[in-house]
Amino acid sequence: MTRVDLVVHGASELVTLAGPARPRVGKEMKEIGVIEDGAIAVHEGKVVETGSTEAIVAKYQGTTVLDATARTVLPGFVDPHTHLVFGGTREAEFEQRCLGVPYLEIAKKGGGIRSSVRQLRQVSEEDLYERTLKRLSGFVAGGTTTLEAKSGYGLDTVNELKSLRVLAKVNETHPVDLALTFLGAHEVPDEHRESRDEYLRIVIEEMIPEVAQEKLAEFCDVFCEHGVFEVPESRKVLLAGREAGLIPKLHAEEFEPIGGAKLAAEVGAISADHLVAIDEEGMDAMLEAQVIPVCLPGTTFFLNLKRHAPARAMIDRGLPVAIATDFNPGSSMTHSMPMILTLACVQYGLQPAEALTAATVNSAYAMNRGGDVGSLEPGKAGDLVLWDIPNHRYLPYHFGGARASVVVKRGKVIFEG
Ligand code: NIG
Ligand code: FE
Repeated sequence: MTRVDLVVHGASELVTLAGPARPRVGKEMKEIGVIEDGAIAVHEGKVVETGSTEAIVAKYQGTTVLDATARTVLPGFVDPHTHLVFGGTREAEFEQRCLGVPYLEIAKKGGGIRSSVRQLRQVSEEDLYERTLKRLSGFVAGGTTTLEAKSGYGLDTVNELKSLRVLAKVNETHPVDLALTFLGAHEVPDEHRESRDEYLRIVIEEMIPEVAQEKLAEFCDVFCEHGVFEVPESRKVLLAGREAGLIPKLHAEEFEPIGGAKLAAEVGAISADHLVAIDEEGMDAMLEAQVIPVCLPGTTFFLNLKRHAPARAMIDRGLPVAIATDFNPGSSMTHSMPMILTLACVQYGLQPAEALTAATVNSAYAMNRGGDVGSLEPGKAGDLVLWDIPNHRYLPYHFGGARASVVVKRGKVIFEG
């Protein structure tokens, strides 16, 4: 008998997502590694072995033992696109949208991202930290154990750095892992509406060097869209970020196909996100340059857009589709990856197994964590979730009903529902 920190046994399904050490493409996205009556041993934060309950229980004695009888065990979700740090919420805008006012019209009138900027600037760093930390508990209850988090509601040097410092402190204190992204080019703030070049100069010459010097972010993102940042402007920001050691990624082709996907390929971005309006050329460029498409079905749902990212066509083309919440106070106020799975199945026609791959292994690679999280394989993080459901298909099927019963991060129980 080998002694380990944790044994979970008796799962009606233990879904490992084991497979090649790279993002999964084509029919691999359906091969999720289901072990019936499955079990797993975890030691010092890492997976030691998975297998049948009989085999694992005969071999390992756990200091902590969890009986997963009649439950399904999945890897913790990896959410590769969130705007986690913001000052306040925007339910009044939601009410306007329910009355039929479009999101872009609200934004044009100074609402949208710019209203979040005004809110965040008024909140102290300590207060922002408390608010951000509190929000993480919702992610954990939804089975998320790793997430990307962006700045982008500060839009001046002081407030962008404040946002990233808050995220860094949250990352230190909370058991889930965050990967940080600088998104100073999320919008042109109120004070620079007539001097956008000056704002771009500040992003490139002041913010990026400080972010890089303080090592406050791993990625540099841009909202590349007509009326926000055009392709040449986005290119300048992403190249300056890359020069400073920040990995490029983009909000691309959300509303119009302006060449954001091609730009992602050109600058060697790790991912391009949204892609509702992507064209065939864009898909081919991403395939060639191995840029991961991150689709955000919560956003099209919440904005009630009739058009969806062509995720099925992307999979058929060989692109390793990932999915994320896009959690933010305007266009996607959800922290629930199970809800995102449902929407990916309904909007895109993904099978539950494909959606699961998109929310674990592929999303881990989309945020540069593919070697550590996203699947339950020996040597990878012991990040797993017990769900009170009979099989993996049930999770997207029972939409709005998902509740994690136990969440384990690096071998330790961090939540019990
Ligand atoms: O990803 N598209 C740009 N940014 C966010 C929206 C942010 C907001 O409305 O506050 C997004 O959807
Ligand atoms: Fe976003």
